[in-house]
Amino acid sequence: MHFTARAHTNIALLKYWGKADTAIITPTTTSISLTLDEFYTDTTVWFDESLTTDKFILDNEVMTGHALQKVSQFLNVVRRQADITSYASVISTNHVPTAAGLASSASAFAALAGAASKAAGLDLTLTELSRLARHGSGSATRSVFGGFAQWTPGDDTTSVGSPLLADADWPIQLMTVVINDQQKAVGSRAGMQHAMATSPFYDLWVKTANEQVNQMITAIHNHDITTIGQIAEANALQMHATNMTAVPPFNYLTDKSWEVILMAQELRQKGIPVYATMDAGPNVKLISNPADTEVIKESLLSVVSDNQIINAHPGPGIQINAGD
Ligand code: DP6
Repeated sequence: MHFTARAHTNIALLKYWGKADTAIITPTTTSISLTLDEFYTDTTVWFDESLTTDKFILDNEVMTGHALQKVSQFLNVVRRQADITSYASVISTNHVPTAAGLASSASAFAALAGAASKAAGLDLTLTELSRLARHGSGSATRSVFGGFAQWTPGDDTTSVGSPLLADADWPIQLMTVVINDQQKAVGSRAGMQHAMATSPFYDLWVKTANEQVNQMITAIHNHDITTIGQIAEANALQMHATNMTAVPPFNYLTDKSWEVILMAQELRQKGIPVYATMDAGPNVKLISNPADTEVIKESLLSVVSDNQIINAHPGPGIQINAGD
């Protein structure tokens, strides 16, 4: 029997940037995210005793090498947990508007965890699913949940995602400004490892991130976009500071990224609450109130073109359906 899972991507408002344990993927700090409606992955899995190897099709392309290996390693975790040995077929489709380069390991591994666990005969709770997804990618722990979610440090059992405010049905939006859709030179896995190992600012990053957790949770519960945005922008810039001070240094942000970040600062001086957050790439995501969409867009159009702006809102948690 095959199962299909849909998981949406999430953007961290407090970033996960460094692993306490690289083997089981646990973080050094608590991260907090917003799951988005616009970007998601659909993944179908079935285990088949007649297969002699795992098969993985991504966006209609048969995958081999590293991509297949990562999926197979993840399926090994599922097989161990379900006590089965057969190989699986995995078919995944990323739904991201245009070729925005916004496919994420978060939606990918959350969807794979959902479909593969069910297809293997496991019936996991959302917490158990989040724990399983973590073995594929840290940020996937949070994509199991809709709305705001957090992922805490801990051991293999306790380091899981949980919902903070699943029904984020108050007005908040995240505008993605696509600056570059190319594969990044330094992936997030290698980047966070390098920053953690060599940046003299890394300990300060952890200390500051710990202080930001309760402030962010309070701001989310108060529906306070200004405070959410202020903390998120500070946290993102602090994360990027660990990269720029790593030895040797590296940097994800381009001149265009900075133009957008500075544009947000200028709009704030005019009284419009809009704040930037950036992950392991040059794209900038703007946190704002939906009522300010037009005025923000107008400013953005002096820096980028219309098709580089994608507006997203809070999205749902994982959905899993049985097939034939
Ligand atoms: C900057 O979850 O992709 O997006 O656990 O090594 O797969 P691995 O890393 P990944 O890192 C995400 C980093 C980030 C911040 C975040 O999403 O919290």
